[in-house]
Order: sequence, then C-alpha cells, then structure tokens
Amino acid sequence: MSETAKLIIEDKTYELPVLTGPENEKAIDISRLRAMTGYVTLDKGFKNTGSTTSAITFLDGEKGILRYRGYPIEQLAEKAEFLEVAYLLIYGELPNKVEYANFKNHITHHTLIHEDMRVFLEAYPIKAHPMGILAASLSTISTFYPESQDPNRPKEAIDLTIYRLLAKVPTLAAWAYKNAVGQPVVYPKNKFDYCENFVNMMFDLPAYDYVPDPVVVNALNTLLILHADHEQNCSASTVRVVGSSQANLYASVSAGVSALWGPLHGGANQAVIEMLENIKNDGGNLDKWISKAKDKEDSFRLMGFGHRVYKNFDPRAKIIKKAADDVLNKLGIIDPVLDIAKQLEEVALNDSYFKERGLYPNVDFYSGIIYRALDIPTEMFTVMFALGRLPGWIAQWKEMVGENQPISRPRQIYTGSKERNFVEIDNR
Ligand code: ACO
Repeated sequence: MSETAKLIIEDKTYELPVLTGPENEKAIDISRLRAMTGYVTLDKGFKNTGSTTSAITFLDGEKGILRYRGYPIEQLAEKAEFLEVAYLLIYGELPNKVEYANFKNHITHHTLIHEDMRVFLEAYPIKAHPMGILAASLSTISTFYPESQDPNRPKEAIDLTIYRLLAKVPTLAAWAYKNAVGQPVVYPKNKFDYCENFVNMMFDLPAYDYVPDPVVVNALNTLLILHADHEQNCSASTVRVVGSSQANLYASVSAGVSALWGPLHGGANQAVIEMLENIKNDGGNLDKWISKAKDKEDSFRLMGFGHRVYKNFDPRAKIIKKAADDVLNKLGIIDPVLDIAKQLEEVALNDSYFKERGLYPNVDFYSGIIYRALDIPTEMFTVMFALGRLPGWIAQWKEMVGENQPISRPRQIYTGSKERNFVEIDNR
C-alpha cells in the first residue's frame, strides 16, 4: 500500500498521499487539501514547499550533493563543455557527437542580433546596469520573433527559440558591457567557440587584435557549468511562474534575469566584491564587520555567506575555490581585496555564529573573485551568472510546458481590515 500522511483538523482525519522520489526525498501531496478540508497551507518564502516535481537537477543541501540529470557537478565541471551541459539540461541526455555538432552549429549561426536592436542598446544611459539592459533586451527581442508568442507552436519552433536564446544572450550581455564602458560593440565571430566568442566580444577593440586567453576561457567554461541550474531557486521559480501563464520563453527568461539581479540571489557576486572593497577602504578591520553581520540590529550580512539549501557546504563553492586559486596563480594576480576575502573566509569559518547557523561561503563568494581576476567589471558579475543559468531556466520552462502544468497562482491568508464603508474625504 502506498504511504499516506494523516492530518487531523477539527476532529476529522484526512489522508494525504506521500510522494517519494528516486533519491528518497519525501513530500506530502497537498494538491487536493483545500478541496478536501477548506484549508490552505502557509509557507512564507516557500521554505517547505515543493512547487513541482522535476527530473532536471538533484541537490542535497545536507550532504552537499549537486547533480544535473544524474551527473555529479564535479565530473561535469572537470570534463564537459558548457554547451554540452546546456544540451544535457534542456534535452535530458548528453548529446552524441552528431547531436552536439548540430546543436553547436545552430547556436553559432544565431549569435547575431537584429541591427534594429542596436537603437535600443544605444539609448541606455551610460550608467545603466547591464542586468537592466539584459532583462529589457530579452523582452524586446521577443518582438522581433512574434511567432514565439504562440503557445501552441511545434517542437521545431520551440527549439529555434532555444537556439536563438543561447546564441544571442552572450551577444546582448557583451554589448550591454560595451555600452557601459563607451566602447564600440564587437560582433560575434563564428570561428570561436561559445566561451571564446563571449570573451572576444567583451575585450576586443578596433585598435588591436585581441586573442582570447585560454586561462580566461577555461575558467569561464567552469563557472558557467557551475551556474547552469540549481533546481527551484528564486529565478528558476520565477521563470516557471511567468511561463505558466503561457508568456513566451523570451519574456519568461527576462523575468528570471530580474529575479536573479537581487543581492540575495545572483546579485550577491557583485555585492561580495563591493563589501570586500568597503572593508578594505575602512581599514580592513575584519572583527568590526563580522560583529556587524552578527548584530541583529544591523541589517548588514556577510555577502557570499549562507544558502537557503546548503547548510554544510556548497559543492560548487568547493570546485570554484580551487578554480579561483588556479586562475590567480596562472594570471599572477596580487590583489589586496582578494587577500581580505581569504582572511574573511578564515575568520567566519571559525566563528561560532556562522558555524551554528551553517553559514559557509557560497558559490558567489568565489565567483566574484574569479571575475575580478579575469578583468570583468563588477557590474557584469550577475550578467555572467545569468549567462550560466540560461540553460537551466530554459530546461525548467521546457519541462513545465511539456507537462502542461497549471498556471501558478498561490493562495494567501488575508490579514487586512474587515469590510468597512467608504468615508467621503470631507469627513475623514
Ligand atoms: N550573514 C550574517 N547572518 C546570516 C547570513 C549572512 N550572510 N545569512 C544568514 N544569516 C543568519 C540569519 O540572520 C539567521 O539568523 P537567526 O537564525 O539568528 O535569525 C540565520 O542565519 C538563517 O538565515 P535566513 O535568512 O533565515 O536563511 P535563508 O535561507 O532565508 O537565506 C540567504 C539564505 C538569502 C542566502 C542568506 O544566507 C543571505 O542573505 N546570504 C547573503 C546573500 C548571498 O550570499 N546570497 C547568495 C545566495 S547563493 C545564490 O543565490 C547563488
């Protein structure tokens, strides 16, 4: 007999189905709760709520496990190419040679942005945050492909949107950066692979013939893989919620970019470096900043520490920490801000406040350090995260659409005024 959970409300007992996943994750299925009992559940921030079943990514926060479609992140980060991982996430299996060559070919041939998009890009103020430009451009680009707005289009048409997204987001991201630094945009080049092409569009200038540095390209490949998916995080959930209304994929991903922007999510990598710079400029007194982070009256948090799911360690942080050391050694970088990062890590890891709460450096703590070493400006860090997370968002959207999931529409417990009569302004 399948397992059930018993719920007793007002002396009545209800049986709710229990779901067990292949990794022994358990959930009480409450999808019929309101119909059965008249009650809803309340779970602010969804800390205990499974919003969907999903076959894309498995993570175990206690054991520090992360797998894409069953493959351990450690193996993928060491051996795979980013686009291979993108294919795996989106289509469910690793591609064979022919499938991979076709996939890469499609993506390589869709990297150009419609020239009319340049008008929009050039209109942004010089100080525009590139995440704002990326989110807006993704919505704008849907207007160039009106057929993408048809929720009932065939599989081939959906694949075309997927290729376009994967191909054009690096171009948009690099152009947003060029806009911010007042340099001419660099067009994509088909001779380069995905990561090389992005690095080239970021750093090439008309005055010289830039050659992408393999150390930079490899580090970027690893970082993008580490960020490629993370199951039902804030931005992936946003993509699913927006997509559940049958909004098009560009618009859904644009919403994901906005969700990622916040400093409690992907924006943390920018916030980490800004925090380290503040600490340095303040004289480098780490004890003072650690005390601020522990003080409940102070809103300051140690950026890059803590995670909603990982309470022992973040497996991505382990890989990225090693990558950070490699990159700094290979590029011969000496940076006082990075020294502060190392000291801060040591002090926090030995402090009982952080230990008791399971607060460890997360992926964003080290990714900011690598991006800085690669000469990527701070405001671009979250864009880099978006570039990596793109296949995850697409995979989450595709799974949701493929399963015909209902529109996302949570309930609430109303806590406002009871009914009252309108009072004319003269009598208030
Ligand atoms: N610095 C100081 N204290 C912290 C921190 C931190 N970075 N993070 C959590 N805490 C404390 C909280 O004050 C709380 O303490 P309390 O139990 O005494 O009240 C306890 O640890 C639990 O924190 P919550 O906020 O309940 O944990 P939650 O799971 O809601 O938040 C989050 C997770 C948002 C990541 C949080 O740890 C945080 O704000 N970290 C800094 C921002 C950051 O690095 N974000 C990137 C996340 S990784 C990613 O998105 C890729």
